[in-house]
Amino acid sequence: MSESEERLNDWLRDAHAMEEQAEQMLSGMSSRIESYPDLAARVQRHLEETRSQRQRLEACMQRRGVSTSTMKDMTARFTALMQGVGGAMSGDEVMKGALSGYTFEHFEIASYKILIAAAEALGDTETARVCNEICREEEAMATWMADRIPETTRTYLCAKTQAWT
Ligand SMILES: [Fe+2]
Repeated sequence: MSESEERLNDWLRDAHAMEEQAEQMLSGMSSRIESYPDLAARVQRHLEETRSQRQRLEACMQRRGVSTSTMKDMTARFTALMQGVGGAMSGDEVMKGALSGYTFEHFEIASYKILIAAAEALGDTETARVCNEICREEEAMATWMADRIPETTRTYLCAKTQAWT
């Protein structure tokens, strides 16, 4: 196997770990934002998409004969990498969630752009197709979040004001 083929396999493993991390992040978030029903519903929908993304990546990996035995290590590595983004949840956790969620989506988008280009360069059209499909879902989530951040901020501030009076 060429070095480039191995590199693509590594990046697929990284993406798989990234989706596992996303799954944890989104499920943690969805249980803490009940007072923001629209956001909670969209996060729940993306959580289901994320589970399916992980499965679609697994299919690509199986087709390419990529072993899944090292996935645990990769997940740990990725968790360490993203620690700086998530930060500790505090009183304004819905805003911190919006911040880390939006950032995470863009990390995912960049990762899939790399995978698409690598798969295309190596002639793996199925992996490129799957990654393109997933990338569009991440872009849709990122756009939705960007559109909702101002309103979420206002709802947050309004709820705080009510709590103070
Ligand atoms: Fe994702």
